[in-house]
Amino acid sequence: MQKIILAIETSCDETAAAVYSSHHGILSNELFSQIALHARYGGVVPEIASRSHIEKINIIVQKSLDVARVKLDDIDTLAVTNRPGLPGSLLVGVCFAKAIAGTLKKNIIGVNHLAGHVFSACIENNIPFPFICLTASGGHTALYYVTNYGEYTIIGQTTDDAAGEAFDKIAKLIGLDYPGGPVIEKLAQAVNFQDFFHYPRLKDRQTLDFSFSGLKTAVLYDLVKKNLYKLKEKKFLGHEDRYLQQQVASSLLVCVGDIFDQHIKRAFTLYPQAKALAFVGGVACNNYLKTRLKDVAHRLAKEFYVPSKQYCTDNGAMIAFVAHYKAQKGEFSDLSLDIY
Ligand code: KG4
Ligand code: ZN
Repeated sequence: MQKIILAIETSCDETAAAVYSSHHGILSNELFSQIALHARYGGVVPEIASRSHIEKINIIVQKSLDVARVKLDDIDTLAVTNRPGLPGSLLVGVCFAKAIAGTLKKNIIGVNHLAGHVFSACIENNIPFPFICLTASGGHTALYYVTNYGEYTIIGQTTDDAAGEAFDKIAKLIGLDYPGGPVIEKLAQAVNFQDFFHYPRLKDRQTLDFSFSGLKTAVLYDLVKKNLYKLKEKKFLGHEDRYLQQQVASSLLVCVGDIFDQHIKRAFTLYPQAKALAFVGGVACNNYLKTRLKDVAHRLAKEFYVPSKQYCTDNGAMIAFVAHYKAQKGEFSDLSLDIY
């Protein structure tokens, strides 16, 4: 019998909902992005995020039902992201899902946001197991060894900032808009992805862990050295210098590309049985990085997968997809579901 899942995702700054059918796959994937609300602060403001989720959740959930042409009565299971994320944001989605599940007597499944990203590339592709997954977003950067649906181990992670966070913070440092990732890609493209400033790459050749906060410091001190940033006043002096912004953006992107390249090679050396590489999360929208990683994978004779853009950034579909195989295994939560 066909089973229908309604998934809700509110872990950070996107209010998202999706409907999934066990027969037809994703039926709808709706979203309200809060980017414009947080842009003037250069990053996500937790309280603004929670308040916006409360305003939008009803509208987005209704829209996802309408687009999927289903009614609440048709839903078998509510899926909701319950970890990790901003507590106030997670609570909105979890309380909303619990209220529906409780009153309408539906099943409920709590989903790990990171599992959502890891399996987001499986929504549109039959990826052969085992595969290696590089998740890179504003909140997380990690490598996973994935052996089956719901079965994965973390083999490397950032010890400080996430890759997307590094793009966002460095963009802010040199007077660019939030989120930094897309702006940096555009600027870098204008100068053909040249490496002007040779920012430092990770020295430890053994680890699969990442570290990006040092990169931010390296960019900052390079600017200070060139008298383009006043540390005391926290003032960047190159706002009018588009070429300088392009040089920083391009050097940064090439550096991150080299770090990813190096880590992926190492990961496949340690896990040679892995058949494919999946690149997921908001940073996987980046065409330059996609091309770099595709090249590494193909050089190693591995398959390469990236979800389409709508499944790279935070979305409800990936939460529905994870809930679908959890439901098949009978892994349901109950109304004591909490956030983490
Ligand atoms: O997955 P996501 O929407 O949210 C989190 O779970 O964090 O990722 C957002 C992050 C931001 O840091 C943003 O700068 C980055 O993804 N991003 C990009 C690009 N588009 C978004 N980074 C590099 N290049 C892009 N084109
Ligand atoms: Zn995410």
